[in-house]
Amino acid sequence: MALETDYIVIGSGVAGLRASIELAKSGARVTVLTKDKASESNTEYAQGGVAVVLSDDDNAELHEEDTLVAGAGLCDTEAVETLVTGGTKYIKQLIEWGTEFDREGGKLVFTQEAAHSRRRILHAHGDSTGKEIVRALIARARQEKRIFLMPFANTESLILHEGRCVGVRFLDPILRAPREIFAKGVILCTGGAGQLYLHTTNPSVATGDGMAMAYFAGAEMADMEFVQFHPTALNLENAPRFLLSEAMRGEGGILRNKFGERFMGNYDERLELAPRDIVSRSIVAEMRKTGTRHVFLDMTALSEEYLKERFPKIYETCKFYDLNIAKDLLPVSPASHYCMGGIRTDLHGRSTVAGLYAAGEVTCTGVHGANRLASNSLLEGLVFGARAGEAMITDNGKWKVESGKSTDEDQKPKTKDQPSEGIATAVKKRVKRVMWERVGILRDKDSLNRALQEFRQIEKANLSISSRNFVTLAKLVAKGALWREESRGGHFRNDFPERDERFRVHSIQKLGAEISSSEKINF
Ligand code: FAD
Ligand code: SIN
Repeated sequence: MALETDYIVIGSGVAGLRASIELAKSGARVTVLTKDKASESNTEYAQGGVAVVLSDDDNAELHEEDTLVAGAGLCDTEAVETLVTGGTKYIKQLIEWGTEFDREGGKLVFTQEAAHSRRRILHAHGDSTGKEIVRALIARARQEKRIFLMPFANTESLILHEGRCVGVRFLDPILRAPREIFAKGVILCTGGAGQLYLHTTNPSVATGDGMAMAYFAGAEMADMEFVQFHPTALNLENAPRFLLSEAMRGEGGILRNKFGERFMGNYDERLELAPRDIVSRSIVAEMRKTGTRHVFLDMTALSEEYLKERFPKIYETCKFYDLNIAKDLLPVSPASHYCMGGIRTDLHGRSTVAGLYAAGEVTCTGVHGANRLASNSLLEGLVFGARAGEAMITDNGKWKVESGKSTDEDQKPKTKDQPSEGIATAVKKRVKRVMWERVGILRDKDSLNRALQEFRQIEKANLSISSRNFVTLAKLVAKGALWREESRGGHFRNDFPERDERFRVHSIQKLGAEISSSEKINF
């Protein structure tokens, strides 16, 4: 039997939780479907912190300026302004709701990260900022009697009726069967797609499902070619790429090559605190020059006592791998970390499909441009999650739930015999390898064309919906990267190494249409 609610939120990271709380304030019934346990998300693992204008020597103009510079000419200024000014308001509210950011003598403390002109990053329990934010938001959401949170409810596709999103199809974790739920509005807060790559800092839930679902529903996708690679993921044989926060470099960490030489000076005068894309490419260049698979992060100038207190999670995790961060050089290399591109939205989370909204990493709001400034994404989820929730109520408060309406025929996922889980895993593994080798930190026409060829080959197989979504997303990134014949921010083409002002536009991809461009994201 089909279910009915007022609003559906997919995902329970910072964006989904914040949107749910906003929606529930109106008295509406809010159903949150989330793929794993409620806390499992990119948000949960966020380390460095959240950027916000709250310190005495900071102001909104400076934060805006830093964000625009990092975005390499592709940020929408109105979106950045919305982020920065809304950020201060919503972070204060988060503190009122019980979020415990680190303090000294009762005063908030701010750390430094790359490309920030001020120390403006709030953090919690040293390096567990995301975990603390999730804790506080879940506690706040639990106070709202009309929020119904359903963990382990994997959403597979959107239900459209006459071009409007009226519900979703998900796997009911109790019935263990596909089920439909209908609502006045649906918001995708499904996060990013770091898992598209062989090496990533992202947890396993970050497969970009929401982006693919929106694409198949006819939504416009923007700037899919811009992927951020974090420079310093721990690189140990057979271990996941655990993040070593940029805040470690902010607090004085140094990058060294296999000869123990500090090398960033050969690449950028900002040294270890140059923007992420530059540090990542410099590390790749250094690894190639010295014939190694990693470089080293050196924290040994700082005392063990300090490091243990400032980075407790990192200290313990490295200890598990027999590394003492105060004494050992830490092997690191870049890994995929964040998607700047995603579902094109306006400044209120509206996608280009009626009834469908989106917030957080799944979107492209124009805030990050070609390269996200460190610690701006938790802030984006918070600000735009709240704004989207508000807009959903204003736009749809009087709308009737279209219960039981069937999906517009051409949007219905084509179901063949369900292939085995083994096949799905093999498909994803192959896509991840191709993405890493051909659509990674350095790209060119030949590598991108070969990647697209491989993806077309993979698509010929009998794919499950999730594998089809995964390959489709990979294609969107590769196609965008092939189209953008320049280098800008997180996108670097060996064959077009310079920035080209003709490409100071956003790439727009839509099902059944050629790539087009737009000067602004906001519409
Ligand atoms: P997420 O937090 O990723 O939440 C997505 C949710 O959607 C999850 O609950 C997931 O289970 C659910 N979901 C996905 N697919 C489906 C589906 N098909 N059906 C149902 N549910 C689904 N940013 C900062 O600003 N500061 C930092 O210090 C920082 N550190 C980071 C450290 C790490 C290791 C990583 C990986 C990221 C970090 N980031 C940081 C980035 C930041 O954490 C994310 O961009 C942000 O948390 C995204 O929030 P979100 O709510 O959009 O998505
Ligand atoms: C980090 O702690 O280095 C991650 C910060 C971010 O991705 O914004």
